[in-house]
Amino acid sequence: MISCKHVSKTFENNGQKNEVLKDISLEVAENEFVVILGPGQCGKTTLVNIMAGLDHETAGSVTVNGKQVDGPAPERGVVYQKTALFPWLTVEGNVGFGPKMAGLPKKERKEKAKHYIDLVGLSGFEKSYPIKLSGGMRQRVGIARAYCNNPSVLLMDEPFGHLDAQTRYLMQEEVERIWSQDKRTVVFITNNIEEALYLADRIILLSNCPTTVRNEFKIDLPRPRDYISPEFLKLREEISKHVETTE
Ligand SMILES: Nc1ncnc2c1ncn2[C@@H]1O[C@H](COP(=O)(O)OP(=O)(O)OP(=O)(O)O)[C@@H](O)[C@H]1O
Ligand SMILES: [Mg+2]
Repeated sequence: MISCKHVSKTFENNGQKNEVLKDISLEVAENEFVVILGPGQCGKTTLVNIMAGLDHETAGSVTVNGKQVDGPAPERGVVYQKTALFPWLTVEGNVGFGPKMAGLPKKERKEKAKHYIDLVGLSGFEKSYPIKLSGGMRQRVGIARAYCNNPSVLLMDEPFGHLDAQTRYLMQEEVERIWSQDKRTVVFITNNIEEALYLADRIILLSNCPTTVRNEFKIDLPRPRDYISPEFLKLREEISKHVETTE
């Protein structure tokens, strides 16, 4: 489904070269939930931007559904750490924005938006404006908006990084529920081992910058997972042995 082959990225500013990604190869299967776990500033966003088609690799190639990625496309939905919603549009307007741009008639657009607003648990907030929403609710809107374009791939770049711990747990459960109800191929970025273990079919562990794939862990625990089960804690300890820190 998603295939990165020998992807490298070097930024160049005023003749200064900064090698960020170094020979990254990875595959994500259809409807698989892959979590990319990496330390701060290692190049996670750079990698996601390349998969999204918002940035370009210096070497290597990225294909989605067998096609070379050469720009953004609705089939690849992105959810960011801080969701930028249109403040002048309601929840319904924000979620239905993509279909509107694609020319879908108003009635169908509203129905579609409503379906995904319900899916993310925001029923009743269709007419609310973003300013009235909490951080977790904004991320729900971001997820509904991505889903509403009917993407085959969802790229999520630390979507819960700005939320308080309690809301973060809740949103981890929610994203697992949403994905279980309406499966897509997901690449979810985090620097949090617990979050990775809660969500992933497979964890791909990145090294410090210049980043490469250090390790992979297939996670076979049944869902929904229990953060404090002995199996969960054992895996958490095992994986943390392999994680590099930036300090
Ligand atoms: N457009 C750019 N030009 C030059 N350097 C860049 C650019 N974008 C990112 N970098 C550099 O690439 C490195 C990795 O950045 P990136 O944002 O991809 O890491 P990250 O793992 O997402 O970080 P964080 O943990 O803060 O989210 C940083 O050193 C950053 O300075
Ligand atoms: Mg980042």
